[in-house]
Amino acid sequence: MENLNIIVAHGHNRVIGSENDLPWAGEMREDMKRFVELTTGHTILMGRKTYDSIGRPLPNRRNIVLTSQDDLEIEGCETVNTFADVLDMEVDGDLFVIGGAKVYHLAMPHADKLYVTEIDGDFPGDTFFPELPDVWHEVYREPHGVDERNCYGYTFVEYERIT
Ligand SMILES: NC(=O)c1ccc[n+]([C@@H]2O[C@H](COP(=O)([O-])OP(=O)(O)OC[C@H]3O[C@@H](n4cnc5c(N)ncnc54)[C@H](OP(=O)(O)O)[C@@H]3O)[C@@H](O)[C@H]2O)c1
Repeated sequence: MENLNIIVAHGHNRVIGSENDLPWAGEMREDMKRFVELTTGHTILMGRKTYDSIGRPLPNRRNIVLTSQDDLEIEGCETVNTFADVLDMEVDGDLFVIGGAKVYHLAMPHADKLYVTEIDGDFPGDTFFPELPDVWHEVYREPHGVDERNCYGYTFVEYERIT
């Protein structure tokens, strides 16, 4: 593996999910576009609940699903039973951890880079992105307002680990 990256979109209070779906109603097209651009051609890792929420493997990416169920088979995906299994895998290119909260917690100590979209809204939810420990340093920030393709203002932020 080259880099282990985390990619996440969160609203105010770091909310990422509500009832196993995204908390924001309506489209965030530029966030989706950036997600596709960054992850295409690489490997993505997600928790089983996030897989259920998406409902299909994402195309043009190697899809890995973390689950405690040792008999779970998902067409178009590989399954792993521990995060350590992922770290032991041969991965071409980068690994992007795409959520949810449980997998972000496991990946954070091993991650090289964070790609965050801060969505400018208060949303009810039940799943949250962890607070960042001091080892993370902001290296990029790109704010955008609301427009016809994006229902809320949003800011792309990148963090790198201080070495
Ligand atoms: N805003 C965003 O960027 C974003 C991104 C992704 C997801 N989300 C949202 O986040 C929510 C889902 O997140 P979540 O935290 O509830 O679930 P999750 O992390 O997606 O999945 C949890 C599942 O992963 C498996 N798992 C987790 N830790 C494990 C371990 N140590 N060993 C083996 N298996 C393990 C278990 O699957 P089994 O139950 O099968 O054992 C567990 O139930 C949804 O609302 C989704 O829409 C938001």
